[in-house]
Amino acid sequence: MKMNKTEMVNGQMNAISNVYVIGDHDELKAMLQEQLSDSFDLKFITTSELKKVEAEIIIIASHGTSPADFTQIILAESPNSSIICVTGQEDFELLRNLNRLGVTDLFVIPGEELLLKERIEEMATNVQIVSQSLDQADGYKRGGGKVFSFYSGSGGVGKSLISSTFAQTLKLESTGKVLFIDLNLQFGGAEAYLGMESNRSIIDLIPVINELGEHHIRNVSETEENSELNVLISPKDAEMAEKITEDFVLRLIRASKRSFDFIIVDLPSWIDERSFIALEEANRIYYIMELNTVSLQVLKGVELLLNRLGIDSKDKIEIVLNYKAKDLELTQKDLERFVSYPVASEIRRDIKNVQSRINHGEPLRKEPQEKKLSPFSKDIHKWVHSMLK
Ligand SMILES: Nc1ncnc2c1ncn2[C@@H]1O[C@H](COP(=O)(O)OP(=O)(O)OP(=O)(O)O)[C@@H](O)[C@H]1O
Ligand SMILES: [Mg+2]
Repeated sequence: MKMNKTEMVNGQMNAISNVYVIGDHDELKAMLQEQLSDSFDLKFITTSELKKVEAEIIIIASHGTSPADFTQIILAESPNSSIICVTGQEDFELLRNLNRLGVTDLFVIPGEELLLKERIEEMATNVQIVSQSLDQADGYKRGGGKVFSFYSGSGGVGKSLISSTFAQTLKLESTGKVLFIDLNLQFGGAEAYLGMESNRSIIDLIPVINELGEHHIRNVSETEENSELNVLISPKDAEMAEKITEDFVLRLIRASKRSFDFIIVDLPSWIDERSFIALEEANRIYYIMELNTVSLQVLKGVELLLNRLGIDSKDKIEIVLNYKAKDLELTQKDLERFVSYPVASEIRRDIKNVQSRINHGEPLRKEPQEKKLSPFSKDIHKWVHSMLK
């Protein structure tokens, strides 16, 4: 293990990781150097160097509104870093912008140096705990989980049924750790497709959200009994749902990435700040749609909205065509003329089998390598296997 300045000063194993500083505010940077370099190994870098270093803690020291821009770059280039912002004066607008991006640590210096130091120490301790547990877990990559967000601008198009069956299939057919998160916060619903009931919900994570670890997620999630898929159920209560903030969603997804290999997120068809975060954090967005003109128009509208919100989605979206049938209004060729996203899967309309399972409160998948799969389950099975390759 490398020893750094703090360990040597204290003469004990009190690992304070490297602290990186980014930004164009020279005065603030000089102040940080003066105030912090006794306690931490400060490294000043540019955004282009971000990819090369594995920065655990990054302080942003920049002018005006640019801390938010720097934050976005860091989130994209180094998503596992903890971010702290420093500013020369109180700035509520900036605080609000940073909050929107999931950054809650903003310190005014001069003035709050002590608080800043304490916060870095706290973050460094967390980093140490995480890396210790990683050392013990073989082959485990930090924050390496993949987030697949299931979305559509159209309602009732199969998002919840497809995402929950996808998650269950993935759990049954792979050795990966899979977590399903139902972010239909007001009405819930996915648990019905998995044949589950629960008194627990994602709300129970609120008290621990700032120190969220795998054991919290496992305690609050329900386990689907056939596949042992972990499911975080939504509260189904509009009033409770209001308590879930965008910051909560960000922290939940980031923590899940550290503990699970695949995180499947089911979203409602409207975009608010919370689903925005789930789309932004996604490695892939599976966009569910029917092959018809209205759905295409909705998709075009969604593209505009995502662009306006600054979500770079072009490389992340894959289309999932639901209700495949012979007599559809449009063909895949028509689709290709309008959009350039790849089609990840086509899923057949399978009312009889799907409906009878739901009515009996049973999930669509029950065991690995099932022989007699219904057309719906078969299509998802095929998709999951092609994705795993
Ligand atoms: N391929 C399919 N075959 C048969 N039934 C399907 C298929 N896809 C979806 N359904 C049915 O369509 C209905 C709507 O599906 P679902 O709830 O998954 O949609 P959603 O997009 O999540 O809706 P919402 O926008 O309300 O969240 C459900 O009753 C579901 O069982
Ligand atoms: Mg739904």
